[in-house]
Amino acid sequence: MKLFASIYLVVGAFGSLAVAATPELNALAREIDRVESIREIKDVQRQFSQLAGSGRWKNMADLFSTNGTLIWGNETTTGQSSIQAWLKRDAGNMDGINPGSMNTVVSENPVVNLVVDGKSAKARWNGLRFSGDGRGGTKIQGGIYENEYVLTDKGWKLSLLHYNALYAGPYKGGWRNVGGGLPIIPYHFTPEGSGIVIPPAEGVAPSTNATVGQLAHRIARMNDEDEVRNLQHAYGYYVDRRMWPDVVDLFTPDAVYQIENVGRWDGPDEIRAGVEELMGPAGLTQGINNDHQIFSLIVNVDPNGKEAVARGIQISMLGNANTRAASWEFGVFRNHYVKEDGIWKIDVVDLVPVVVADYKEGWGNGGTGERPHYEHPFINITSSRRKDLKDLGNGTTTDLADLQRRLARSAAYDGAENQSHAYGYLLDDLDCARMGTLFAKRGHKASPFAGFFITPERVRDACFASYGMNRSALRNSISFHWRPQPVVLVSEDGRSATLRARLLQPSTSTTKAGSFNGAIYHDQMVLEDGKWRLWSVTIDEFYWESPSWEGGWSAANPRNKSEPDPAPAAWTKKYPPDISIAAVGDRESTFRDPEDVVPISQSSKWASASILLARMCTV
Ligand SMILES: *[C@@H]1O[C@H](CO)[C@@H](O)[C@H](O)[C@H]1NC(C)=O
Ligand SMILES: *[C@@H]1O[C@H](CO)[C@@H](O)[C@H](O)[C@H]1NC(C)=O
Ligand SMILES: *[C@@H]1O[C@H](CO)[C@@H](O)[C@H](O)[C@H]1NC(C)=O
Ligand SMILES: *[C@@H]1O[C@H](CO)[C@@H](O)[C@H](O)[C@H]1NC(C)=O
Ligand SMILES: *[C@@H]1O[C@H](CO)[C@@H](O)[C@H](O)[C@H]1NC(C)=O
Ligand SMILES: *[C@@H]1O[C@H](CO)[C@@H](O)[C@H](O)[C@H]1NC(C)=O
Ligand SMILES: *[C@@H]1O[C@H](CO)[C@@H](O)[C@H](O)[C@H]1NC(C)=O
Ligand SMILES: *[C@@H]1O[C@H](CO)[C@@H](O)[C@H](O)[C@H]1NC(C)=O
Repeated sequence: MKLFASIYLVVGAFGSLAVAATPELNALAREIDRVESIREIKDVQRQFSQLAGSGRWKNMADLFSTNGTLIWGNETTTGQSSIQAWLKRDAGNMDGINPGSMNTVVSENPVVNLVVDGKSAKARWNGLRFSGDGRGGTKIQGGIYENEYVLTDKGWKLSLLHYNALYAGPYKGGWRNVGGGLPIIPYHFTPEGSGIVIPPAEGVAPSTNATVGQLAHRIARMNDEDEVRNLQHAYGYYVDRRMWPDVVDLFTPDAVYQIENVGRWDGPDEIRAGVEELMGPAGLTQGINNDHQIFSLIVNVDPNGKEAVARGIQISMLGNANTRAASWEFGVFRNHYVKEDGIWKIDVVDLVPVVVADYKEGWGNGGTGERPHYEHPFINITSSRRKDLKDLGNGTTTDLADLQRRLARSAAYDGAENQSHAYGYLLDDLDCARMGTLFAKRGHKASPFAGFFITPERVRDACFASYGMNRSALRNSISFHWRPQPVVLVSEDGRSATLRARLLQPSTSTTKAGSFNGAIYHDQMVLEDGKWRLWSVTIDEFYWESPSWEGGWSAANPRNKSEPDPAPAAWTKKYPPDISIAAVGDRESTFRDPEDVVPISQSSKWASASILLARMCTV
């Protein structure tokens, strides 16, 4: 709110320049442009990923500005037609077009930074690429993008796509570091400035032609987009845990659930039976991995505000550690949603599996499933947002203060997500000092298997105590902290949020093949002195681990219950947490704990811990 207040002060001084609309309306319109811009930039990147899966080199090149540049590892190409040719050449037979071939590209964890004039932007993304030619050839690539975007008369475009290759390798034998020790990929942002949702605009806002009702409509579409995104992502989490009653609750009474080459189910009862048949009975049991991870989701809310469509990439990592069975499923979905009595529901799930493959075999020969017979249409991101918006003045609020509040809620969605991803990147680089500054003055972080540290200084110093002060410039190994698939619940006043995200953890090293682990974050963010800050970062880990690339996630063994718990990490003796995990009691009892967790009722530490927690919550 502060942000808008200051804009009005600036604009107010020049108010007489505005003829067509009031200064307040002009400022609101400019602010809406800026919040929409963040989303449009993210969609450009997501579309790049989606198009890559189908070998749409021309459409991918069209996402660049006319003199845009692509840097992929050590190769540089400029101009749309050269980029198109490079993309095709680079993919070769792993193009997603040849039968059995696959080119699944995902980019997640955006930290987007809009330049003050609102006309250009920079963003950092994590990237992964899984490809195969259907004839045994495979490639896995992982790295970090530091990209630049520019606003043109055809919307937001990539002016620079810069992929920094960090790890790569074939499926058999797995990936390792590219070029030995890995450098820090320079950041376009500083944590000091991080969490400034969108930099305050400067100067007088240009006069808008929009009516207040049209502006209300644009804000409503963004609010709806947030809800649809949460719905799809939450649906994914329920599926992972086989929470079938919760899954079915998200559907309309006449919903359709279909998977190409697999089946079609109509209505919640059939859908419930269908998911049980496909994935097993309700409730995840020991040893099962049912993760259906969602990436690159593009949401388009219809201007009627009652329907929406979303297209995304699904990568499933499935398995049963009891039988050692494991598989991959790469797919594309295009789902449909409707708003019923103010609540978004799913009315069509439509998944097209692209490649289904046994873990041991990999996807190189095109996998085991039947080839898909159709491809979902892409969402047209250039026409999806600002166009044809009617004046909803009679159906929605026209109270400017209330519109600002609604806009702030969508800005908060991006602000909270931004802060979440900034945390992931700084933790990858074990940049303890900068990571600490992401926290609120009384914010706290759970250090895995140790406990909670309160205040940015304590979070920073616990990180130093754990990882050391003098880290070398080149790393032999990295564990990445991807935090994709966020579900962000923003408060009604737009000033705080809770955020659930996956931890998807690819690792890499110079010597040993990397692999994936999975866990769940449940965090809180607050707006403090005009900046988004982390209030609470907690991790439940691990839900599943891959002891090796060869064995994957089904090679994990259950914990030997007759062995004693591992001793607390030595650093916690020198730098003890403010609240130990043991003191938290049942909340942490199902995760590995160095000191045996005592049931709440018997815990002598519990009383003091709950006082501390209460103090944390009231600041
Ligand atoms: C690309 O073109 C724009 C507009 O013509 C120009 O301002 C910009 O400097 C150019 N960028 C490069 C990298 O040539
Ligand atoms: C570029 O990078 C690739 C992959 O890391 C490597 O195989 C190739 O030799 C490099 N080319 C040059 C010119 O450095
Ligand atoms: C994200 O963080 C960057 C880096 O600090 C900041 O400049 C930018 O304004 C933030 N963007 C959003 C959308 O929150
Ligand atoms: C606003 O209206 C004026 C006068 O009708 C027109 O010249 C201008 O192009 C319009 N601007 C926009 C952004 O639509
Ligand atoms: C997307 O929509 C725009 C504007 O309506 C149109 O010019 C463009 O051709 C469309 N693109 C695709 C790929 O359909
Ligand atoms: C709003 O206006 C449209 C046409 O302008 C009309 O069809 C609709 O019934 C109105 N809605 C309300 C709630 O007044
Ligand atoms: C880090 O390295 C510097 C310079 O080599 C040294 O003075 C300092 O004591 C080291 N700090 C720690 C904590 O090891
Ligand atoms: C479990 O640990 C106990 C105690 O160390 C040991 O005797 C036993 O062999 C272990 N069981 C397995 C299956 O490793």
